[in-house]
Amino acid sequence: MLSENDTGSSLSTASTKENRDGLSNCICVDDFEALATTKLDRNSCGYYNSGATSQQTLLENCTAFKSWRFRPMVLRDVSSVDPSTEILGRKISFPVCIAPTAMNKMASRKGEIDSANAACSLNSGFTLSSWATSSIEDIAENVPSVLRWFQLYVYKDRVLTKELVKRAENCNFKAIVVTVDTPVLGRRYQDVRNKFSLPENLVLKNFEQQNKLGFSDGVRSSGDSGLAEYVASLIDPSLNWDDIEWLKSMTTLPIIVKGILTAEMAAEAVNHQVDGILVSNHGARQLDGVLPTINALPEIVKAVRGRCEVYLDGGIRNGGDIAKAIALGAKAVFIGRPVLWGLACGGEFGVKKVLEILRDEFILTMKLLGVTSVRELQSTPNLVVHETNILSKL
Ligand code: FNR
Ligand code: LAC
Repeated sequence: MLSENDTGSSLSTASTKENRDGLSNCICVDDFEALATTKLDRNSCGYYNSGATSQQTLLENCTAFKSWRFRPMVLRDVSSVDPSTEILGRKISFPVCIAPTAMNKMASRKGEIDSANAACSLNSGFTLSSWATSSIEDIAENVPSVLRWFQLYVYKDRVLTKELVKRAENCNFKAIVVTVDTPVLGRRYQDVRNKFSLPENLVLKNFEQQNKLGFSDGVRSSGDSGLAEYVASLIDPSLNWDDIEWLKSMTTLPIIVKGILTAEMAAEAVNHQVDGILVSNHGARQLDGVLPTINALPEIVKAVRGRCEVYLDGGIRNGGDIAKAIALGAKAVFIGRPVLWGLACGGEFGVKKVLEILRDEFILTMKLLGVTSVRELQSTPNLVVHETNILSKL
């Protein structure tokens, strides 16, 4: 929850003097992180910002981008550049979409509706978490024109799981993003110390029926991290590749697997004919010590050989990071924490500003690299190389 005033989820609230002053000083994503950290209470801030155990991968998700270097082209006429692209056949105005993050209403009053509205106004894409504080139907009703995907956690209760998929279909969601890196929840020390708990006034809104039976109370801590306890009791740790077939048999929506980090697992996903792979380490919140995603991306792109779309999330904080991921083979990137920071700083307006900053920095990077389209960025060889490859040739 917000520690002081609700920074609000509407443009009008965000334009109060206090918020305007704070936001106008935010010129990059790091500024949003710093401001959000002063606005959020300990429970929410710890939950949003932390990674698993030693947080090695959390740091590396961002720093690893720095070892990938640009080899720019010059004198290329970049007076006009087009940052738009397509994901699963739908046009987005630049290759950045919103990753699923749980419990957005701890950051702003309208939570996920704010995030979806921001994505809609910039013609980007929005992914709703299974554990959102707004429901599948809330998004469809309040933000009917946003390009939306639904992130699925597979419950031990398969009837409930199937119902979620059917509701997403009925509400015109365009893909199911099944998260495959969470058979159990990673251990996040801050959440354990804070006894992380979903605030009393909020519920996991996708489970209206079950909430009558106290379903969301499972995320209110009884001593450890409330979420870890919830996952252990309800999420199916027996999930395996056969379940991807089960999912495909029950829906005509495209299936994207989220949480692939190796060439071997990418090949397995392709064998199961998924429509997309989201290279992700869950924002470094699951298995600490895995590779930062940008370093895992090249072997996955190579293994996939264009047989499905490949996306990346984790550590994207500026336009250069986006360009590096696209040049190394990602079709688009997704952002998690930057959206939460935008929400905490100024609701919908804050998220919109985060997306605008990333879009503008991406366009600037394209111009300085000498490319005029996303396709050119993707197809020009060696625009981005790892610095160890350059140094070893000296
Ligand atoms: C997440 N993530 C996540 N992933 C998922 O599949 N379902 C979920 O409900 C959540 N919830 C969630 C909450 C919070 C607070 C965070 C920070 C992350 C992971 C998310 O989709 C994404 O993989 C990472 O956030 C990407 O890394 P960055 O952009 O946060 O560095
Ligand atoms: C998390 C879950 C919700 O990372 O995915 O907290």
